[in-house]
Amino acid sequence: MSTAKKEYKRVTVKSLTEMKSAGEKISMLTAYDYTMAKIIDNAGIDVILVGDSASNVMAGHETTLPITLDQMIYHASSVVRGVQRALVVVDLPFGSYQSDPKEALRSAIRIMKESGGHTVKLEGGSEVKESIKRILNAGIPVMGHLGLTPQSIYKFGTYTVRAKEEAEAEKLVEDAKALERWGCFALVLEKVPASLAQKVAEQLTIPVIGIGAGSGVDGQVLVSHDMFGMTHEFNPRFLRRYLNLYEDMGGAVAQYITDVKSIDFPNDDEQY
Ligand code: KIV
Repeated sequence: MSTAKKEYKRVTVKSLTEMKSAGEKISMLTAYDYTMAKIIDNAGIDVILVGDSASNVMAGHETTLPITLDQMIYHASSVVRGVQRALVVVDLPFGSYQSDPKEALRSAIRIMKESGGHTVKLEGGSEVKESIKRILNAGIPVMGHLGLTPQSIYKFGTYTVRAKEEAEAEKLVEDAKALERWGCFALVLEKVPASLAQKVAEQLTIPVIGIGAGSGVDGQVLVSHDMFGMTHEFNPRFLRRYLNLYEDMGGAVAQYITDVKSIDFPNDDEQY
């Protein structure tokens, strides 16, 4: 059997299913702006998520709840302009899909039309069944999101690991199967025990992408600002930082200040 990795000129929802079948893990990172999206896409990421975590890392809110549909469209359209290969998934923000399925469809259509994103993602299982079905019926691919769902933080009360108790784990497995049955193309599982996440990934044919869900799933996602070390106060066990940009950028700014104050910058070569 050949182990050669299939090259994708453009990653689609179908490519992700193929990757799962071939046992190739899916890489996914968030981006919220053109420049970051361009860097991440050019490096060969499979999926870029325009996450509502923009509410935290771009706007400085404590939760993901305040970000609006208009703001998500702004971020997503900036990202789309920087992407040539990756599949672009856009989060439906809190309040744009929970109240009624028609509103959910209108929100999803706005994202697709106004940002050029390729799919939407939304949080929840059976509670948002009708909204998911309505969006899927319009031909818009939907990625599910179960486990820790930050839009429900005030219901949970904490950001601790979800589905440790049997009843919650059973509901999660049922919801995951239902999302597949309704036609979702993939699923994010956030902060759940690794053994449970692996069980879900094994039982589904659609890809399961984990964040804090162990290595037995079909792919991994991280918030890029965390992964680059631009944030430094958020230190969950699942986070691996690949750079320490908080310190590196701070150091660069300090050096710039020194150079400006000492009239070292600009030098003779840096002026007209
Ligand atoms: O908004 C986001 O960044 C997310 C990821 C944590 C999966 O939903």
